[in-house]
Amino acid sequence: MPGDLDPSSTHPMHQSTSFSAESYFATQSAPPSLEQDIASVQAFVARQAAANRNVVLVTSGGTTVPLELNVVRFLDNFSAGTRGATSAEYFLKAGYAVIFMHRQFSLQPFSRHYSHSTNPFLDFLAVEGEGEGNGTVGITADKRTDADLLAVLTAYKGVQMAGSLHTLTFVTVNDYLWLLRAVSQELSVLRRRAMYYLAAAVSDFFLPRQKMSEHKIQSGKGSLHIEMDQVPKVLKPMVEEWTRDGFIVSFKLETDDQLLIPKARAALERYGHQVVIGNDLHTRKMQVVFVERKRKPLPPLPPGAEEPESEEAVVEVKEAAPALEAEGQPGTAAVSWLRIAPPAATTSTQVKEIEEDIVAELVRRHAAWITHDR
Ligand code: PMT
Repeated sequence: MPGDLDPSSTHPMHQSTSFSAESYFATQSAPPSLEQDIASVQAFVARQAAANRNVVLVTSGGTTVPLELNVVRFLDNFSAGTRGATSAEYFLKAGYAVIFMHRQFSLQPFSRHYSHSTNPFLDFLAVEGEGEGNGTVGITADKRTDADLLAVLTAYKGVQMAGSLHTLTFVTVNDYLWLLRAVSQELSVLRRRAMYYLAAAVSDFFLPRQKMSEHKIQSGKGSLHIEMDQVPKVLKPMVEEWTRDGFIVSFKLETDDQLLIPKARAALERYGHQVVIGNDLHTRKMQVVFVERKRKPLPPLPPGAEEPESEEAVVEVKEAAPALEAEGQPGTAAVSWLRIAPPAATTSTQVKEIEEDIVAELVRRHAAWITHDR
Protein backbone atom coordinates (compact mmCIF):
# COMPACT_ATOMS: atom_id res chain seq x y z
CA MET A 1 0.00 0.00 0.00
CA PRO A 2 1.33 3.45 -0.78
CA GLY A 3 0.97 4.47 2.86
CA ASP A 4 3.36 1.71 3.89
CA LEU A 5 5.99 3.09 1.61
CA ASP A 6 6.67 6.42 3.25
CA PRO A 7 10.41 6.85 2.74
CA SER A 8 10.74 8.74 6.01
CA SER A 9 9.23 5.89 8.02
CA THR A 10 11.70 4.20 10.32
CA HIS A 11 11.98 0.52 10.89
CA PRO A 12 13.33 -0.03 14.40
CA MET A 13 13.16 -3.79 13.95
CA HIS A 14 14.41 -5.32 10.73
CA GLN A 15 10.94 -5.35 9.37
CA SER A 16 10.18 -4.65 5.78
CA THR A 17 7.11 -3.72 3.81
CA SER A 18 5.20 -6.63 2.48
CA PHE A 19 4.21 -6.09 -1.13
CA SER A 20 1.50 -8.01 -2.84
CA ALA A 21 1.87 -8.15 -6.62
CA GLU A 22 -1.00 -5.69 -6.82
CA SER A 23 0.56 -3.12 -4.46
CA TYR A 24 3.89 -3.60 -6.20
CA PHE A 25 2.53 -2.61 -9.61
CA ALA A 26 0.49 0.20 -8.07
CA THR A 27 3.55 1.83 -6.54
CA GLN A 28 6.58 1.01 -8.74
CA SER A 29 6.96 2.65 -12.14
CA ALA A 30 6.80 0.79 -15.42
CA PRO A 31 9.97 0.85 -17.58
CA PRO A 32 9.78 3.44 -20.40
CA SER A 33 10.10 0.80 -23.15
CA LEU A 34 7.15 -1.28 -21.91
CA GLU A 35 4.51 -0.08 -24.36
CA GLN A 36 6.77 -0.62 -27.34
CA ASP A 37 7.73 -4.07 -26.07
CA ILE A 38 4.09 -5.05 -25.65
CA ALA A 39 3.24 -3.94 -29.18
CA SER A 40 6.11 -6.03 -30.58
CA VAL A 41 5.00 -9.08 -28.57
CA GLN A 42 1.41 -8.69 -29.72
CA ALA A 43 2.50 -8.71 -33.36
CA PHE A 44 4.84 -11.69 -32.80
CA VAL A 45 2.18 -13.76 -31.04
CA ALA A 46 -0.35 -13.02 -33.78
CA ARG A 47 2.15 -14.23 -36.43
CA GLN A 48 2.88 -17.42 -34.52
CA ALA A 49 -0.82 -18.12 -33.98
CA ALA A 50 -1.36 -17.74 -37.73
CA ALA A 51 1.55 -20.12 -38.38
CA ASN A 52 0.02 -22.59 -35.89
CA ARG A 53 3.15 -22.74 -33.73
CA ASN A 54 3.39 -23.35 -30.00
CA VAL A 55 5.13 -20.45 -28.27
CA VAL A 56 7.39 -20.56 -25.24
CA LEU A 57 8.40 -17.58 -23.14
CA VAL A 58 11.95 -18.19 -21.88
CA THR A 59 13.22 -15.87 -19.14
CA SER A 60 16.96 -15.83 -18.69
CA GLY A 61 19.81 -14.21 -16.79
CA GLY A 62 20.01 -12.30 -13.52
CA THR A 63 18.09 -9.25 -12.34
CA THR A 64 19.69 -6.20 -10.73
CA VAL A 65 18.48 -4.21 -7.74
CA PRO A 66 19.58 -0.57 -7.97
CA LEU A 67 20.44 1.21 -4.73
CA GLU A 68 20.05 4.76 -6.04
CA LEU A 69 17.62 6.43 -8.48
CA ASN A 70 20.59 7.87 -10.38
CA VAL A 71 22.10 4.45 -10.27
CA VAL A 72 25.77 4.03 -9.51
CA ARG A 73 25.54 0.90 -7.38
CA PHE A 74 23.35 -2.16 -7.60
CA LEU A 75 23.07 -5.73 -6.33
CA ASP A 76 23.14 -8.48 -8.91
CA ASN A 77 22.33 -12.12 -9.34
CA PHE A 78 24.98 -14.57 -10.51
CA SER A 79 23.33 -16.01 -13.64
CA ALA A 80 25.10 -15.76 -17.00
CA GLY A 81 21.95 -16.88 -18.80
CA THR A 82 23.36 -20.20 -19.97
CA ARG A 83 20.26 -22.21 -19.03
CA GLY A 84 17.89 -19.84 -20.78
CA ALA A 85 19.93 -19.25 -23.95
CA THR A 86 20.71 -22.95 -24.41
CA SER A 87 17.11 -24.01 -23.76
CA ALA A 88 15.79 -21.41 -26.21
CA GLU A 89 17.89 -23.01 -28.95
CA TYR A 90 16.48 -26.47 -28.23
CA PHE A 91 12.92 -25.14 -28.15
CA LEU A 92 13.48 -23.54 -31.56
CA LYS A 93 14.87 -26.83 -32.82
CA ALA A 94 11.73 -28.55 -31.56
CA GLY A 95 9.58 -26.23 -33.69
CA TYR A 96 8.52 -23.77 -31.01
CA ALA A 97 8.48 -20.03 -31.47
CA VAL A 98 10.43 -18.41 -28.64
CA ILE A 99 10.04 -15.12 -26.81
CA PHE A 100 13.47 -14.79 -25.27
CA MET A 101 13.29 -12.35 -22.38
CA HIS A 102 16.78 -11.90 -21.08
CA ARG A 103 19.04 -9.72 -19.01
CA GLN A 104 20.81 -7.21 -21.22
CA PHE A 105 24.25 -8.54 -22.26
CA SER A 106 23.62 -12.04 -20.89
CA LEU A 107 24.04 -15.03 -23.21
CA GLN A 108 21.71 -15.36 -26.18
CA PRO A 109 20.76 -18.32 -28.35
CA PHE A 110 23.29 -19.00 -31.14
CA SER A 111 25.69 -16.16 -30.34
CA ARG A 112 26.31 -17.88 -26.97
CA HIS A 113 28.60 -20.35 -28.78
CA TYR A 114 31.00 -17.52 -29.51
CA SER A 115 30.77 -15.29 -26.46
CA HIS A 116 33.92 -13.59 -25.18
CA SER A 117 34.23 -16.19 -22.41
CA THR A 118 32.92 -19.44 -23.97
CA ASN A 119 34.75 -19.28 -27.29
CA PRO A 120 36.41 -15.96 -28.05
CA PHE A 121 35.78 -15.26 -31.71
CA LEU A 122 39.29 -14.04 -32.50
CA ASP A 123 40.80 -17.24 -31.12
CA PHE A 124 39.55 -19.40 -33.95
CA LEU A 125 40.57 -17.15 -36.77
CA ALA A 126 43.97 -17.81 -38.31
CA VAL A 127 46.16 -15.18 -39.93
CA GLU A 128 47.89 -16.02 -43.18
CA GLY A 129 50.73 -14.15 -44.86
CA GLU A 130 51.89 -12.43 -41.71
CA GLY A 131 55.50 -11.31 -41.86
CA GLU A 132 55.89 -11.86 -45.60
CA GLY A 133 56.47 -8.20 -46.09
CA ASN A 134 53.84 -7.82 -48.81
CA GLY A 135 51.59 -5.70 -46.64
CA THR A 136 48.59 -8.04 -47.01
CA VAL A 137 47.25 -10.33 -44.33
CA GLY A 138 44.60 -13.00 -44.99
CA ILE A 139 42.21 -14.23 -42.36
CA THR A 140 40.70 -17.72 -42.46
CA ALA A 141 38.62 -19.68 -39.99
CA ASP A 142 40.44 -22.42 -38.12
CA LYS A 143 39.51 -25.62 -40.00
CA ARG A 144 38.54 -27.52 -36.85
CA THR A 145 35.88 -24.99 -35.97
CA ASP A 146 34.53 -24.45 -39.49
CA ALA A 147 31.89 -27.17 -39.25
CA ASP A 148 30.69 -26.09 -35.80
CA LEU A 149 30.37 -22.49 -36.88
CA LEU A 150 28.51 -23.48 -40.03
CA ALA A 151 26.01 -25.55 -38.04
CA VAL A 152 25.31 -22.67 -35.64
CA LEU A 153 25.05 -20.16 -38.47
CA THR A 154 22.69 -22.38 -40.49
CA ALA A 155 20.38 -22.87 -37.50
CA TYR A 156 20.47 -19.14 -36.74
CA LYS A 157 19.66 -18.14 -40.32
CA GLY A 158 16.81 -20.70 -40.41
CA VAL A 159 15.28 -19.16 -37.29
CA GLN A 160 15.66 -15.66 -38.73
CA MET A 161 13.91 -16.71 -41.94
CA ALA A 162 11.10 -18.39 -40.01
CA GLY A 163 10.72 -15.33 -37.78
CA SER A 164 10.35 -17.63 -34.79
CA LEU A 165 12.56 -15.82 -32.26
CA HIS A 166 11.65 -12.59 -30.55
CA THR A 167 14.05 -11.00 -28.08
CA LEU A 168 13.29 -8.64 -25.19
CA THR A 169 15.69 -7.27 -22.62
CA PHE A 170 15.50 -6.30 -18.97
CA VAL A 171 18.06 -5.10 -16.47
CA THR A 172 16.45 -4.50 -13.08
CA VAL A 173 14.06 -6.74 -11.19
CA ASN A 174 11.47 -4.00 -11.73
CA ASP A 175 11.89 -4.19 -15.53
CA TYR A 176 11.62 -7.97 -15.25
CA LEU A 177 8.37 -7.96 -13.27
CA TRP A 178 6.60 -5.46 -15.51
CA LEU A 179 7.73 -7.24 -18.63
CA LEU A 180 6.85 -10.68 -17.30
CA ARG A 181 3.32 -9.60 -16.46
CA ALA A 182 2.74 -7.90 -19.81
CA VAL A 183 4.22 -10.68 -21.94
CA SER A 184 2.35 -13.39 -20.00
CA GLN A 185 -0.93 -11.56 -20.53
CA GLU A 186 -0.27 -11.21 -24.26
CA LEU A 187 0.77 -14.82 -24.62
CA SER A 188 -2.26 -16.09 -22.73
CA VAL A 189 -4.38 -15.69 -25.88
CA LEU A 190 -2.75 -18.95 -27.04
CA ARG A 191 -4.07 -20.69 -23.93
CA ARG A 192 -2.70 -24.24 -23.72
CA ARG A 193 -0.31 -23.77 -26.63
CA ALA A 194 1.74 -21.32 -24.59
CA MET A 195 4.56 -22.46 -22.34
CA TYR A 196 6.31 -20.29 -19.73
CA TYR A 197 9.86 -21.35 -18.85
CA LEU A 198 11.09 -19.22 -15.97
CA ALA A 199 14.85 -19.73 -15.85
CA ALA A 200 15.87 -16.17 -14.92
CA ALA A 201 17.51 -15.70 -11.52
CA VAL A 202 15.04 -13.33 -9.89
CA SER A 203 15.99 -11.24 -6.91
CA ASP A 204 13.93 -11.88 -3.78
CA PHE A 205 14.70 -8.46 -2.29
CA PHE A 206 14.60 -4.93 -3.64
CA LEU A 207 14.52 -1.27 -2.66
CA PRO A 208 11.21 0.41 -3.51
CA ARG A 209 11.82 3.64 -5.40
CA GLN A 210 10.19 5.56 -2.54
CA LYS A 211 13.01 4.45 -0.25
CA MET A 212 15.86 4.99 -2.68
CA SER A 213 18.34 7.80 -2.40
CA GLU A 214 18.02 10.08 -5.43
CA HIS A 215 21.75 10.59 -5.80
CA LYS A 216 24.83 8.49 -5.24
CA ILE A 217 24.95 7.29 -1.63
CA GLN A 218 27.74 9.18 0.13
CA SER A 219 30.39 7.27 2.00
CA GLY A 220 31.17 10.02 4.55
CA LYS A 221 28.88 8.57 7.20
CA GLY A 222 30.74 5.29 7.60
CA SER A 223 29.16 1.88 7.12
CA LEU A 224 26.04 1.46 5.04
CA HIS A 225 22.88 -0.17 6.35
CA ILE A 226 20.26 -1.05 3.81
CA GLU A 227 16.94 -2.60 4.56
CA MET A 228 15.35 -4.23 1.56
CA ASP A 229 11.78 -5.24 0.99
CA GLN A 230 10.64 -8.57 -0.30
CA VAL A 231 9.85 -8.83 -3.99
CA PRO A 232 6.34 -10.30 -4.26
CA LYS A 233 6.32 -13.87 -5.55
CA VAL A 234 4.75 -13.32 -8.92
CA LEU A 235 4.23 -16.98 -9.69
CA LYS A 236 0.92 -16.85 -7.86
CA PRO A 237 -0.76 -14.13 -9.95
CA MET A 238 0.95 -15.55 -12.99
CA VAL A 239 -0.80 -18.89 -12.51
CA GLU A 240 -4.10 -17.50 -11.28
CA GLU A 241 -4.53 -14.31 -13.30
CA TRP A 242 -2.03 -13.56 -16.05
CA THR A 243 -2.00 -16.81 -17.99
CA ARG A 244 -4.99 -18.87 -19.02
CA ASP A 245 -4.34 -22.61 -19.10
CA GLY A 246 -0.69 -22.06 -20.02
CA PHE A 247 1.95 -24.66 -19.19
CA ILE A 248 4.16 -23.07 -16.53
CA VAL A 249 7.61 -24.34 -15.64
CA SER A 250 9.48 -22.65 -12.81
CA PHE A 251 13.00 -23.32 -11.60
CA LYS A 252 14.02 -23.69 -7.98
CA LEU A 253 17.60 -22.87 -7.19
CA GLU A 254 19.27 -23.94 -3.94
CA THR A 255 22.81 -24.28 -2.72
CA ASP A 256 21.91 -26.80 0.01
CA ASP A 257 20.86 -29.92 -1.87
CA GLN A 258 18.88 -31.17 1.15
CA LEU A 259 16.45 -28.31 0.59
CA LEU A 260 16.00 -28.80 -3.12
CA ILE A 261 13.17 -31.33 -3.27
CA PRO A 262 11.21 -30.05 -0.23
CA LYS A 263 11.34 -26.48 -1.56
CA ALA A 264 10.40 -27.54 -5.09
CA ARG A 265 7.45 -29.54 -3.73
CA ALA A 266 6.38 -26.58 -1.60
CA ALA A 267 6.48 -24.27 -4.65
CA LEU A 268 4.35 -26.70 -6.64
CA GLU A 269 1.78 -26.92 -3.87
CA ARG A 270 1.75 -23.19 -3.20
CA TYR A 271 1.40 -22.00 -6.79
CA GLY A 272 -0.36 -24.95 -8.40
CA HIS A 273 1.44 -24.75 -11.74
CA GLN A 274 2.66 -27.66 -13.89
CA VAL A 275 6.36 -28.34 -13.25
CA VAL A 276 9.09 -27.18 -10.89
CA ILE A 277 12.62 -28.00 -11.99
CA GLY A 278 14.98 -28.07 -9.03
CA ASN A 279 18.67 -27.40 -9.53
CA ASP A 280 21.60 -27.12 -7.19
CA LEU A 281 23.99 -24.27 -7.98
CA HIS A 282 27.04 -26.55 -8.19
CA THR A 283 25.57 -29.48 -10.12
CA ARG A 284 23.03 -27.68 -12.31
CA LYS A 285 24.79 -28.50 -15.57
CA MET A 286 24.79 -32.24 -14.87
CA GLN A 287 21.51 -32.94 -13.08
CA VAL A 288 18.12 -31.43 -12.36
CA VAL A 289 15.05 -32.78 -10.65
CA PHE A 290 11.54 -32.58 -12.14
CA VAL A 291 8.77 -32.16 -9.57
CA GLU A 292 5.21 -32.24 -10.84
CA ARG A 293 1.81 -33.27 -9.67
CA LYS A 294 1.18 -36.98 -9.87
CA ARG A 295 -0.64 -37.72 -13.07
CA LYS A 296 -4.17 -38.96 -13.08
CA PRO A 297 -4.62 -42.01 -15.28
CA LEU A 298 -6.22 -41.02 -18.55
CA PRO A 299 -10.01 -41.47 -18.50
CA PRO A 300 -11.26 -44.22 -20.83
CA LEU A 301 -12.65 -42.94 -24.11
CA PRO A 302 -16.45 -43.09 -24.30
CA PRO A 303 -17.72 -45.86 -26.61
CA GLY A 304 -17.44 -44.86 -30.26
CA ALA A 305 -15.29 -41.81 -29.50
CA GLU A 306 -12.29 -41.13 -31.73
CA GLU A 307 -8.70 -41.04 -30.56
CA PRO A 308 -7.39 -37.50 -29.99
CA GLU A 309 -5.80 -35.86 -33.03
CA SER A 310 -2.21 -35.79 -31.90
CA GLU A 311 -1.69 -39.48 -31.27
CA GLU A 312 2.04 -39.12 -31.87
CA ALA A 313 2.41 -36.82 -28.91
CA VAL A 314 0.47 -39.19 -26.68
CA VAL A 315 2.63 -42.14 -27.57
CA GLU A 316 5.76 -40.17 -26.86
CA VAL A 317 4.59 -39.16 -23.43
CA LYS A 318 4.02 -42.76 -22.45
CA GLU A 319 7.69 -43.47 -23.07
CA ALA A 320 9.70 -41.96 -20.24
CA ALA A 321 12.98 -40.43 -21.39
CA PRO A 322 15.75 -42.92 -20.63
CA ALA A 323 17.66 -40.41 -18.53
CA LEU A 324 14.74 -39.82 -16.17
CA GLU A 325 14.84 -41.70 -12.90
CA ALA A 326 11.63 -41.67 -10.89
CA GLU A 327 11.95 -41.37 -7.14
CA GLY A 328 9.29 -43.33 -5.29
CA GLN A 329 8.05 -41.00 -2.57
CA PRO A 330 4.61 -40.76 -1.07
CA GLY A 331 2.62 -37.56 -1.49
CA THR A 332 1.00 -35.63 -4.27
CA ALA A 333 4.15 -34.78 -6.24
CA ALA A 334 6.05 -37.01 -8.66
CA VAL A 335 9.81 -36.56 -8.42
CA SER A 336 12.22 -37.65 -11.16
CA TRP A 337 15.88 -36.92 -11.74
CA LEU A 338 17.36 -36.08 -15.10
CA ARG A 339 21.10 -36.61 -15.33
CA ILE A 340 23.70 -36.51 -18.08
CA ALA A 341 27.06 -38.23 -18.14
CA PRO A 342 30.08 -36.12 -17.15
CA PRO A 343 32.01 -34.79 -20.20
CA ALA A 344 34.96 -37.18 -19.73
CA ALA A 345 32.67 -40.17 -20.22
CA THR A 346 31.30 -38.98 -23.57
CA THR A 347 33.12 -40.02 -26.71
CA SER A 348 31.69 -37.30 -28.93
CA THR A 349 33.62 -34.07 -29.47
CA GLN A 350 30.30 -32.27 -29.15
CA VAL A 351 29.62 -31.67 -25.45
CA LYS A 352 26.21 -32.87 -24.32
CA GLU A 353 24.03 -30.13 -22.82
CA ILE A 354 21.47 -31.04 -20.18
CA GLU A 355 19.04 -28.47 -21.64
CA GLU A 356 18.58 -30.75 -24.65
CA ASP A 357 17.00 -33.40 -22.41
CA ILE A 358 15.13 -30.88 -20.25
CA VAL A 359 13.49 -29.37 -23.33
CA ALA A 360 12.72 -32.78 -24.90
CA GLU A 361 10.99 -33.81 -21.69
CA LEU A 362 8.99 -30.59 -21.46
CA VAL A 363 7.94 -30.73 -25.10
CA ARG A 364 6.53 -34.22 -24.42
CA ARG A 365 4.70 -33.05 -21.32
CA HIS A 366 3.37 -29.94 -23.01
CA ALA A 367 2.00 -32.03 -25.89
CA ALA A 368 0.14 -34.16 -23.35
CA TRP A 369 -1.09 -31.03 -21.60
CA ILE A 370 -2.48 -29.70 -24.87
CA THR A 371 -4.23 -32.91 -25.89
CA HIS A 372 -5.23 -34.48 -22.62
CA ASP A 373 -6.02 -31.78 -20.12
CA ARG A 374 -3.41 -33.00 -17.62
O1 PMT B 1 21.99 -18.87 -16.08
P1 PMT B 1 22.71 -20.05 -15.50
O2 PMT B 1 24.06 -19.69 -14.98
O3 PMT B 1 22.74 -21.19 -16.47
O4 PMT B 1 21.86 -20.52 -14.23
C1 PMT B 1 20.58 -21.02 -14.38
C2 PMT B 1 19.76 -20.84 -13.08
C3 PMT B 1 20.42 -21.61 -11.96
C4 PMT B 1 19.67 -19.36 -12.72
C5 PMT B 1 18.32 -21.40 -13.39
O5 PMT B 1 18.41 -22.76 -13.70
C6 PMT B 1 17.41 -21.19 -12.17
O6 PMT B 1 17.38 -21.96 -11.24
N1 PMT B 1 16.59 -20.12 -12.23
C7 PMT B 1 15.66 -19.72 -11.13
C8 PMT B 1 16.43 -18.99 -10.06
C9 PMT B 1 15.52 -18.45 -9.00
O7 PMT B 1 15.10 -17.31 -9.06
O8 PMT B 1 15.20 -19.32 -8.07
P2 PMT B 1 14.35 -18.99 -6.77
O9 PMT B 1 14.41 -20.23 -5.98
O10 PMT B 1 14.82 -17.71 -6.13
O11 PMT B 1 12.88 -18.71 -7.33
C10 PMT B 1 12.05 -19.79 -7.71
C11 PMT B 1 11.05 -19.34 -8.77
O12 PMT B 1 10.24 -18.28 -8.26
C12 PMT B 1 11.71 -18.84 -10.05
O13 PMT B 1 11.20 -19.57 -11.16
C13 PMT B 1 11.32 -17.39 -10.17
O14 PMT B 1 10.90 -17.07 -11.50
C14 PMT B 1 10.12 -17.28 -9.23
N2 PMT B 1 10.14 -16.01 -8.51
C15 PMT B 1 11.26 -15.60 -7.88
C16 PMT B 1 11.25 -14.40 -7.20
C17 PMT B 1 10.05 -13.66 -7.20
N3 PMT B 1 9.96 -12.53 -6.57
N4 PMT B 1 8.95 -14.10 -7.84
C18 PMT B 1 8.98 -15.28 -8.47
O15 PMT B 1 7.94 -15.69 -9.01
